Amino acid sequence: MGLATRHPFRGPRGQAYSAVLFGWRLRGDIRQLRARSFHHPPVALACAGCVLVPISVLPGKLAARRLKNKRNCAIVLPIMGRALITGASAGLGSEFARQLAAGGKDLVLVARRAEPMEKLAAELHDAFEVDIEIITANLADPEAPQALYDETVARGLEIDTLINNAGSAGPDLLKVRDWQVQADHFNLMMTSYAALCHFFIPAMQARGYGRVLNVASVAGQITVPGDMNYGPSKTYLIALSKALSASVKDDGVHVLALCPGLTHTDFHQSKHLSAMKARSPGFLWYDADVVVREGLAALEKGKAVHTSGRLYRLAMPIARQPWMRGILKAFSVRT
Ligand SMILES: NC(=O)c1ccc[n+]([C@@H]2O[C@H](COP(=O)([O-])OP(=O)(O)OC[C@H]3O[C@@H](n4cnc5c(N)ncnc54)[C@H](OP(=O)(O)O)[C@@H]3O)[C@@H](O)[C@H]2O)c1
Repeated sequence: MGLATRHPFRGPRGQAYSAVLFGWRLRGDIRQLRARSFHHPPVALACAGCVLVPISVLPGKLAARRLKNKRNCAIVLPIMGRALITGASAGLGSEFARQLAAGGKDLVLVARRAEPMEKLAAELHDAFEVDIEIITANLADPEAPQALYDETVARGLEIDTLINNAGSAGPDLLKVRDWQVQADHFNLMMTSYAALCHFFIPAMQARGYGRVLNVASVAGQITVPGDMNYGPSKTYLIALSKALSASVKDDGVHVLALCPGLTHTDFHQSKHLSAMKARSPGFLWYDADVVVREGLAALEKGKAVHTSGRLYRLAMPIARQPWMRGILKAFSVRT
C-alpha cells in the first residue's frame, strides 16, 4: 500500500491529497509533500512544475482519463478521507465504490452479502491502492445504523463522505398484509438513511467538511398508482436531503438527493420488475456509471437535488401531470 497508509496526513483545511505522478502514486498532506520534496525528486517536480488540480473541479470523464493514463500525468488530487457506501455489494453502490476509489478515496463498504464486497474490495485495492473496510449489516434492522456507526468508531474510521444507497423495491402497502414486511422496508428505505445522517453529519460539521449523497429516485417526484411504498419513501429522502442541505451547507457539508431514472443494475431481478424491464423501451435505461458520475459531480457542486439523465430532466415536468398517472402505472416498481 506504500505511502498511502503510512502517511495519512491532513491538509490545511483537513484534507489529505493524492498525487499520481509518472506512474507513482503518493498520498498525504500537501505541506508534507513540499517539505519532503528535496528528498523525493518526483515530488519536487510535481510541486515546482505542475498545476495542482483538485479532482472536484475536473469533469468526471477528464479526471478518470487522467487517472487511467498514469504514465504522463502529474496531478494532485484531494482525497479528503474516507467514504462509507451502503448497498455496496451490487449495482449503483459498487459503481460509487469504483469511482470514489479511482479518485483516491478510502472506503467502507456496507451491505448484507460479504462475498461480492470482498471481491470488489480486492479489485479496487489492486487497481487504486486505497484502503477498504467491509462491514456487513442488514439496514432493515432498526438497530443496524447505530451498530454500524459504533463499528466505524471502534475501527478508528473517519467518515467524511456518506453514500446512503442501499435499497430494494417495496411490498404492496395494501396487499401484503404482514406489517413487519412493510416496517422492514420503511426501515431500510427511510429510517436507516436518516439515522446514518444523524450519526455521521455532526462530525462532518465539526471538521468543516462533509459530503452526503442520498440515493432517491425519479419515483419520489411523481405519483404512480400502485406505488404506495417505494415512491413515497423516496419522496421523504428528497425532502430530508433538501432540509439537511439548507441546514448544514454553511458548515461545509453538502447533502444531495440523487434521483436516478431506470438504471441497469440488479434491482430489476424480481419477476414483476424483469417483466417491466422487458416491456419498457431501451432509451429509458441508463448505465450505472453515468448515473454515479453525474451524482458525484452534483454533490461536489452543492446541489440539494439532482435528477440524473437528460431525458428524465426533460420528462419530469410532464411526468408530474395527473393525466400521466395511468401511463406511469406500467412502470410501477412494486414487487
Ligand atoms: N436501478 C434503478 O433503476 C434505480 C432507479 C432509481 C433509484 N434506485 C435506487 O438506487 C439504490 C441502489 O439500487 P440498485 O439499483 O443499485 O439495486 P441493486 O443492484 O439491487 O443493489 C441494491 C443494494 O442494496 C443492498 N441492500 C438491499 N437490502 C439491504 C438491506 N436490508 N441491508 C443492507 N443492504 C441492503 C444490496 O446488498 P445486499 O443484498 O448484499 O444486502 C445491494 O448492494 C436503491 O436505493 C434504489 O432504490 C435504483
